[in-house]
Amino acid sequence: MSRVAVIGAGSVGSTIAFALLIQRISSEILMVDIVQETAKGQVSDLSDANFIASNHVRVGTFEEAGQSDIIIITAGAKQKPNETRLDLIDRNYKILDNVIGSMKPINPNAILLLVSNPVDILTHIAQKLSGLPKNQVFGSGTFLDSARLRRKLSSILGVSENAIHCYSLGEHGDSQIIAWNSASVGGKPLLEFPEIAILDKELIAKEISNKANEIIKLKGATFFGIAGCVSLVVQSIIFNQRHIRPLSTYIEEYGCVFSMPVVLGRNGIEKVIDIDLNQEEKDKLKQSSKILREICAKYT
Ligand SMILES: NC(=O)c1ccc[n+]([C@@H]2O[C@H](COP(=O)([O-])OP(=O)(O)OC[C@H]3O[C@@H](n4cnc5c(N)ncnc54)[C@H](O)[C@@H]3O)[C@@H](O)[C@H]2O)c1
Repeated sequence: MSRVAVIGAGSVGSTIAFALLIQRISSEILMVDIVQETAKGQVSDLSDANFIASNHVRVGTFEEAGQSDIIIITAGAKQKPNETRLDLIDRNYKILDNVIGSMKPINPNAILLLVSNPVDILTHIAQKLSGLPKNQVFGSGTFLDSARLRRKLSSILGVSENAIHCYSLGEHGDSQIIAWNSASVGGKPLLEFPEIAILDKELIAKEISNKANEIIKLKGATFFGIAGCVSLVVQSIIFNQRHIRPLSTYIEEYGCVFSMPVVLGRNGIEKVIDIDLNQEEKDKLKQSSKILREICAKYT
């Protein structure tokens, strides 16, 4: 038995609910939105797909959300074309503060999963505002960027995405890095594949970090990819699968919240993997952590 609450019933929240529903991941899904009609409309629409599974989808209150097993926060403003995720902080900080305040007292065993942007900074703030242990409060981070990267590499190498171990790490935003040096395919270092050796790595990194912007220019929002990623995160928690995913969590070495590969299980983040990074990758992450720390300092 598991109850998942989705706060924010817009494009991302409703697509996450749909992904959870059709994959039969949780037994109950609550939709919560500041605009009651939006939550009501999404529940009514989602319930039309209920014949696929037997989950229960209904409108929930903030108090009920606070007592759920997993709370997914998608409430907030989204980027307009050419806005960065960091540009959303003022608007989304206020919304997050309201949402967490309205859910209190929060179930001490709940997992709080941040999806709203800027996800790293909001995760850091949510760790403080919620009072929950840090391993229970984390963000979707660069899971989506890493999925985009693996898709790209899969098309170049002609192997399944599942066989590619390569991560985008750091900020879910412009300063993220690709951990090329630790990447492997079928036990062989990724950089030893001739197709990869000749690639313009900077160009690939830019293409991956800019993909959301390209989609936003075309259709105004992104929601399918993130819904796929979040549904796997929820599945990993509910079924204690201990998958390794790049998620946004507090990283002691860098003194900030951003993405590193973590082991994900019933208690949330069970362990951060100490991935091998070369000096250039570490330097870029240090630079990125400085930007995130400075912004966080204004809000915490
Ligand atoms: N982390 C990721 O990889 C990723 C990917 C895509 C989108 N996002 C982010 O997800 C967020 C939502 O995007 P969207 O496309 O669903 O936007 P949207 O505008 O479609 O939906 C946002 C919803 O939040 C609701 N909301 C606003 N304030 C609220 C409050 N105080 N309490 C409850 N609900 C409230 C709105 O009424 C709206 O229904 C954005 O911040 C976006 O940048 C993150």
